[in-house]
Amino acid sequence: MNIAVFASGRGSNFSAILRAKKSGRISADISLLVCDNPKAPVIGKAKRAGVEVFLVKREGFSSGKDFEEAIILRLQQAKIDLIVLAGYMRLLSPEFTQKFKYKILNIHPALLPSFKGTQGIEDAFNYGVKLCGVTVHFVDEEMDHGPIILQVAVKIEEADSLESLESKVHKLEHKVYPQAIRLFTEGRLRVQGRKVRIL
Ligand code: GRF
Repeated sequence: MNIAVFASGRGSNFSAILRAKKSGRISADISLLVCDNPKAPVIGKAKRAGVEVFLVKREGFSSGKDFEEAIILRLQQAKIDLIVLAGYMRLLSPEFTQKFKYKILNIHPALLPSFKGTQGIEDAFNYGVKLCGVTVHFVDEEMDHGPIILQVAVKIEEADSLESLESKVHKLEHKVYPQAIRLFTEGRLRVQGRKVRIL
């Protein structure tokens, strides 16, 4: 089984996935990194690990459709079975998500459906909730919306700052995302409507 990771930035989840592969917790191959940002630190991480990088800038295409078609072509060439979004800062079109239905995972740094969007941790912290966490879900047409695979909570203590909370949440992400990927690659996920059953 071949996995493509899509990322636009730092790539700490990408590194966690690579560590899981190295230690045998994930047996599928991390075959491709798709990145839309030439300045993203994740590119260096992939190159150092020997993972092929497909750097594809939206500005290089006249339409979003052409941009996604270039990505699809590359995914097909690499015989990708699973797409893992790890800080990919671009919305996928409904055509794209339909084409790879139940084959795209995303991780969100909050307990969905609360605090959707790009600032999940900050929004939860500022709201004053006492519990937040991480969610791994299948991707559908709506942002941060598809069927939930795994969800793990973290307590927000009075002593927490935004920075300490961010570090707790990221640490948890690095454990939970490889677990979800492993479940997928072992064929242990069954989607029934909005519910995901783990076999
Ligand atoms: C993570 O917090 C993830 O939940 C969100 O984007 C962030 C990516 O971080 N979708 P990194 O690039 O993996 O360090």
